Amino acid sequence: MQHGNPNSLIEAKARFCTALESWYAKHQRKLPWRSKPSLYKTVVSEFMLQQTQVSTVLPYFERWLKAFPNFEALAKADEALVLKRWEGLGYYSRARNLHKLAKELVQLPKTPQKAEGWLAFRGIGPYTAAAIASIAFSDASAVVDGNVIRILARLTADATPFSDNTAALKHFSPLAQAILDEKNPGDHNQAMMELGATLCTKHKPLCTVCPVMQHCQSVKHGKPENFPKLKRKATVKRTVERVWIAHEGAILLHKKTAKAKRLADLFEIPPQSAIPSKQALTLNSDDLLLKKSRGISNERIEESIYALKPSAALLKKINQDPELHWVLKEELERVTLSGPHRKWANALLKRN
Ligand code: ADE
Repeated sequence: MQHGNPNSLIEAKARFCTALESWYAKHQRKLPWRSKPSLYKTVVSEFMLQQTQVSTVLPYFERWLKAFPNFEALAKADEALVLKRWEGLGYYSRARNLHKLAKELVQLPKTPQKAEGWLAFRGIGPYTAAAIASIAFSDASAVVDGNVIRILARLTADATPFSDNTAALKHFSPLAQAILDEKNPGDHNQAMMELGATLCTKHKPLCTVCPVMQHCQSVKHGKPENFPKLKRKATVKRTVERVWIAHEGAILLHKKTAKAKRLADLFEIPPQSAIPSKQALTLNSDDLLLKKSRGISNERIEESIYALKPSAALLKKINQDPELHWVLKEELERVTLSGPHRKWANALLKRN
């Protein structure tokens, strides 16, 4: 079977939904945004869960709710503090967009109740809009992400090859919508997320305990692991050289101006390219302090940090640069550094 057949699944929709939702009612993970749910908890959790796993989000979610218990508190908060509370969670535009959303929402005469209405906010795409509107307002809008694509491709043994996630998303969205339980869309969507996260996993799916195994054509005809047929993105390698400059009890940090979209207001250990001098171009391997490799989406980034002793001429140039800042060592905790930079800075400070 090349392209699977969604019709039998659509015909069995009522039975499928009952099996899925009964399983979810019994086996769902206890997550803080699911106990005493509110629109605020739903919105915050959905922003945090974009590109981030549940286990990473949990401690942040609890702390966030203590710092900003509702939309009003978040709307009133200072942007720098909002960013500080997001420190380490990554993809910082989410914090800025969530802050902006809170400010807009408290001014609105009526909160949108449909996915379309939520799509109008910055930082909310079709997935998050459907999740919020279905969970908080029972809007009959199906969520579709990598988890849902995987479940649907397996259920229908659909071997269509996809060049990327976007193509697969487009292909499976009508089916996701067709099998959505309109009477209970919030639980249905969360049950799909839960199934993808806990049983219908990418590798080694737990088919024997799957509540919808009877509906799954890939179990009958082959290996569920073989679906979906998604082309893997090639990994792009990147190297970054950074400099650690300590001077008179302070560390030099780089902060992009507010105009820069990514990483604005976040401090970082300066990349060599941000240092206004030829001196920084001749980094010496003897001065290598730290070398780390990390992956972000399809990039593999290798970063090296070198110690650099600034000359008087370089100090003068640094002090004229609006993106470079001296931060006293004992004040380093107060500024917002992204996760890896915080770890590196702590490790390097210990050595000083
Ligand atoms: N991923 C995205 N939204 C989620 C939710 N509400 N529960 C669990 N995982 C999720």
